Amino acid sequence: MEVITRVAAMQELCLHLKRSGKSIGLVPTMGYLHEGHLSLIRAARGENDIVVMSNFVNPLQFGPKEDFATYPRDPERDNRLAEAAGVDYVFAPSGAEMYPEGYSTFVEVKGDIAEKMCGRSRPGHFRGVTTVVLKLFLITQPDRAYFGQKDAQQAVIIKKMVADLNIPVRIVTCPIIREADGLALSSRNTYLSPEERKQALALPRALSAGKEMILKGETDPRRVRQEILRVLESSPGIRVDYVEVVGGEDLAELGELKGRVLLAAAVYVGKTRLIDNIDLEVR
Ligand code: PAJ
Repeated sequence: MEVITRVAAMQELCLHLKRSGKSIGLVPTMGYLHEGHLSLIRAARGENDIVVMSNFVNPLQFGPKEDFATYPRDPERDNRLAEAAGVDYVFAPSGAEMYPEGYSTFVEVKGDIAEKMCGRSRPGHFRGVTTVVLKLFLITQPDRAYFGQKDAQQAVIIKKMVADLNIPVRIVTCPIIREADGLALSSRNTYLSPEERKQALALPRALSAGKEMILKGETDPRRVRQEILRVLESSPGIRVDYVEVVGGEDLAELGELKGRVLLAAAVYVGKTRLIDNIDLEVR
């Protein structure tokens, strides 16, 4: 495995690999790897000749009061885990390499899918995500790019950007990897105190309660949303940011529960913001 820090070197290499007929799978990450990231790498390893993982804590997607400075970083450990999972190249540029002095081009998906849910709580976040992801696509020339269902709205927005801009890449979404007790893996879980770590379990528990209601025949999205809210609001240490029960493909409001449905929530546990979701097919 090789670690590349320069944009020009990474792009030249990938253009060369493409010309020689190799398929490239890209796994974009902000590092501090856990089993969620590794599941994306393994999926990419199974479907491509070459696997590139980017490791870049993208300043553009953090708000001024968010955790860019304190976001956990351990590039050496990341490189060991990436190599063991089958990565061929790690692309780990500096901030100045990606956004040199005078950088001024941004890519933004407009409209409801980017403005609701995390888009409402984190203004500018998705603009930062789409801008860096498009840059990563142009630098690494992937045939396929792998994203986790953990960030369901991110995956929907990236698919929209790819469709709207005719980007020749296939977006593959991979299932959420959870701890044995149900908490979705996240680099931000390291912020939780032991007490908060227990309180955080209310998030997957509330979403599961919503799913149970649907499986028992509930067809009104508002009733399911109310139930998820009820569980969260009766849980100590939890402050709700949002709860949504929407269409899984396009995050649209639903009159009744039918087709692919997404139950999504964001909460604060202490100062830590956690997101989670369940998606299911309702017939
Ligand atoms: P990051 O939070 O590091 O996540 C990288 C990828 O891993 C994302 O596609 C995310 O959905 C996936 N992932 C995280 N936790 C997961 C879990 N528990 N199960 C399955 N997949 C999981 O998402 C980002 O970075 C950034 O926004 C990025 C796309 C790299 C752009 O900067």
